[in-house]
Amino acid sequence: MKEEGKEIVLSGIRATGNLHLGNYFGALSKFVRMQDSDVYDNMFFIADLHALTTAPDPKLLHENVKNIVTEYLAAGLDPEKSTIFVQSDVPEVSELYLLLNMHVGIGELMRTASFKDKARKALGIRSDSDNIESEIIGTDSNKRVNAGLLTYPTLMAVDILIQKAHKVPVGKDQEQHLELTRRFARRFNSFYGVELFPEPTNFDFGGKPVKVPGLDGSGKMGKSEGNCIYLIDEEKVLRKKVMRAVTDEGPKEPNSPVSEPVQNLFTLMELTSAPDVLQHFKDAYADCSIRYGDLKKQLAEDILKITLPIRERILDIRNDDAYIGRVLRQGAERARERAAATLREAREVMGIRKFY
Ligand code: ADP
Ligand code: TRP
Repeated sequence: MKEEGKEIVLSGIRATGNLHLGNYFGALSKFVRMQDSDVYDNMFFIADLHALTTAPDPKLLHENVKNIVTEYLAAGLDPEKSTIFVQSDVPEVSELYLLLNMHVGIGELMRTASFKDKARKALGIRSDSDNIESEIIGTDSNKRVNAGLLTYPTLMAVDILIQKAHKVPVGKDQEQHLELTRRFARRFNSFYGVELFPEPTNFDFGGKPVKVPGLDGSGKMGKSEGNCIYLIDEEKVLRKKVMRAVTDEGPKEPNSPVSEPVQNLFTLMELTSAPDVLQHFKDAYADCSIRYGDLKKQLAEDILKITLPIRERILDIRNDDAYIGRVLRQGAERARERAAATLREAREVMGIRKFY
């Protein structure tokens, strides 16, 4: 909640689908912890404009925004403690995005790792090929690589800078975007000789950042990977997913090294199970008595302890359009107040002044 003197925390998640355990442990559970620490002035939003950079679909977009706000609330974000809003409800963001783009080089945007990744995927180019510039320039269809995707980091920087946020809790994959945000802030401040934008930093509660693995044996859990456990998953579905998780043939000798698929299950256990439960299965692995079926059953049980209460709240909140509307209206009002003040300052220093 807005309070003088408190550092501003801001973060968002793109409206591209339901939230999974990766989003929960990597982002949402941290938002809730920051909120409940009572130390910060918290702002959490749903990045619907960013969702348009990859998969514009009018029907899905509206549904996805609703899904995410519902999941935010169900996981413990409290509109009385945090400003919860939708990105597009703050039109000042779109205007500052245009203005800030005048100070952003297309070269630095093209070198951004996430842009290269997404552009490669869109163009169907191998992931080790670095020469995508000519491919991009040679294609006319905006269906392939659109300018919105290129300027994604400008929009993200504006989300942060327009609220003058200090701390931005995001996963490791977003570090480069945060670095660009700092660079853009410094550049703008020094070009106009002002101290308009603070330089934001990432935030974690100590410890190493989590990378939640998927159930398919390798890599991280991610929407586009099809390997997710969703907060909204029904009990039966969730159990089935966990029981089907990839493992290996089991240890043949005591103290064998742990393969990636099995380590992934241990990592999920680290996040969801009690330490003695994890230790029990690690010991069983070390002395070759482990049965993966038992480990999976336990893991499913422990995940359900976290997700089922959230799922129940999701089902309740989802039907309460009036409540969702109130939360988002109040959030938009608060977010706009601050955004409008920053935009006024930016226009002023850039020389955009009215004659009437
Ligand atoms: P996805 O990869 O499923 O498309 P997003 O890119 O929308 O998810 O990520 C939203 C937030 O969730 C980001 O802060 C990101 O760092 C975090 N996140 C996503 N997947 C994971 C994961 N597997 N482990 C940890 N954090 C994750
Ligand atoms: N790019 C972020 C992601 O993919 C989402 C995001 C958009 C964001 N604007 C932001 C995160 C501002 C933090 C602050 O996860």
